[in-house]
Amino acid sequence: MSNGTIKTDVLILGAGMAGLTCALSLPEELEILLVSKVPMPTGSTYLAQGGLAAAVSEEDSFELHLKDTIDAGAGMVNEKAAIDIISSGPRLIEQLSGWGVHLEGSFGKGKGGIEGGHSVRRVLHHKDRTGRLISEVLSERCAERRNVTIMECAFAVNLLAASREMPELVEDAVDRCIGAHILHNGTISTVLAGETVIATGGSGKVYRYTSNQDSATGDGIAMAYRAGLPVKNMEFYQFHPTCLFHPDKRNFLITEALRGEGAVLINLGGFRFMEHYDPQRMELAPRDIVARAIDSEMKRLGNDHVLLDATHLSRDDLTTSFPEVTEGVISVGIVPWEEPIPVVPAAHYTVGGIDARTDGSTDMNGLRAIGEVSCTGFHGANRLGSNSLLEAGVMGLKASDSIPRTLMDSSDFHASDWSFGRAKPISENVLVDHAWAALRSVMWDYVGIVRSDRRLKRALRIIDVLAEEIEEDYWTMLPVIGLLELRNICTVGSIIVRSALRRRESRGLHYSLDCPDTLHSSGDTVISGPNHE
Ligand code: FUM
Repeated sequence: MSNGTIKTDVLILGAGMAGLTCALSLPEELEILLVSKVPMPTGSTYLAQGGLAAAVSEEDSFELHLKDTIDAGAGMVNEKAAIDIISSGPRLIEQLSGWGVHLEGSFGKGKGGIEGGHSVRRVLHHKDRTGRLISEVLSERCAERRNVTIMECAFAVNLLAASREMPELVEDAVDRCIGAHILHNGTISTVLAGETVIATGGSGKVYRYTSNQDSATGDGIAMAYRAGLPVKNMEFYQFHPTCLFHPDKRNFLITEALRGEGAVLINLGGFRFMEHYDPQRMELAPRDIVARAIDSEMKRLGNDHVLLDATHLSRDDLTTSFPEVTEGVISVGIVPWEEPIPVVPAAHYTVGGIDARTDGSTDMNGLRAIGEVSCTGFHGANRLGSNSLLEAGVMGLKASDSIPRTLMDSSDFHASDWSFGRAKPISENVLVDHAWAALRSVMWDYVGIVRSDRRLKRALRIIDVLAEEIEEDYWTMLPVIGLLELRNICTVGSIIVRSALRRRESRGLHYSLDCPDTLHSSGDTVISGPNHE
């Protein structure tokens, strides 16, 4: 079943904004293999409604954008990374426009949107379908490129490390990535690459309710962790305050931009409750504050949702500026200009990730991590809405600037093929399905918006048992995507819980009933791969 060896200059895992931007900006004489787990266009980028934050208007400045980012990040923003990313915004916008993505709010065209924590309108967008436009156009551009080979429905199982395969490439005890094993059409190929870029996005599927696509299973984070890389600040998981609450359409995002245009949150008693939680900023307070306020109102009143009232906007305003949201809620019988929309928080963004610099470089030579899968420190302990598309695009550009300087020639690389041993086909899918549901429920119930040591420790015990069973299946069953994804979300869940237990304070997106105060100063939570702790 092994599909042999493929050699390429650059292997890019993931086809969201970060991966696509990187592929399109690399020199055209390099051969690129772009691997996407699902058919393109795809990824969290595709679902992004709000937009891309960039300080490009006259009323804005890099300093102001930096200040808002630092304020939202609750004392943990890496300022150097933030300055680097924010000041590259205009270059990214210029580049996107060159590829055919024209966003409202850039180049004096239309007005940018506003979301919580932004002090001016700086969210460049395409109605509420910003990510869809970016994904579609950049995927098309990639398909046109002769140097880019696209492999869809392909799954990166593990990274290939020189220390195991070609120890002569290990420099000063620093390992080198030489590619990955890729599952495609039921076979596993050994892909050898001069440089490997992980751009696989986040891990929302670790929680029972998420705004993310089904493919967001933390594959890149789990893979890097297994290869021994440090994974940072994973306790900071962002819950989006407003996802649709409806039995027929779970996890559909109701963009924060709607609150930017005046929509208000009310509890089922009809009270505009943000008045009690953040009377100055109200619905436009940073996301951690709004999500916790909703959680607290639901628990206080014993309700399973709250309401977002956008009825001050006309039918015309809503259908023109928010077609995605309008169509989505109308499809389940809610008329947004006549009645409030039932909403609930859901897991949305993995703020932590593989420790990386803004050009994606990591602690392993030949391996970069860009976009949501990485942690540069730009978001600190809480991400400012729409800063992630900026980060993803800028990291894609910066990685492509520096890859030619570190790239090795893969023509002499070699690695062992995947060994199937005595693996058998999975005979009882119920085991996999049950473990998926159990893991996601534990994470939702015990590791959600408000945490306690007791719940976290209980979660870890359950996850440890699940992990043991999943490992047994992994080593005895033939690899299929469902099992590999399950193994990855289990690893990511465990990292989130262990990170949360290590942080002895409440800060940004991590709130603990046992440590409700914020310490005067605090550092990163770093969890290193299984053989390196
Ligand atoms: O509400 C939103 O449109 C989400 C934006 C983001 O997560 O950046």
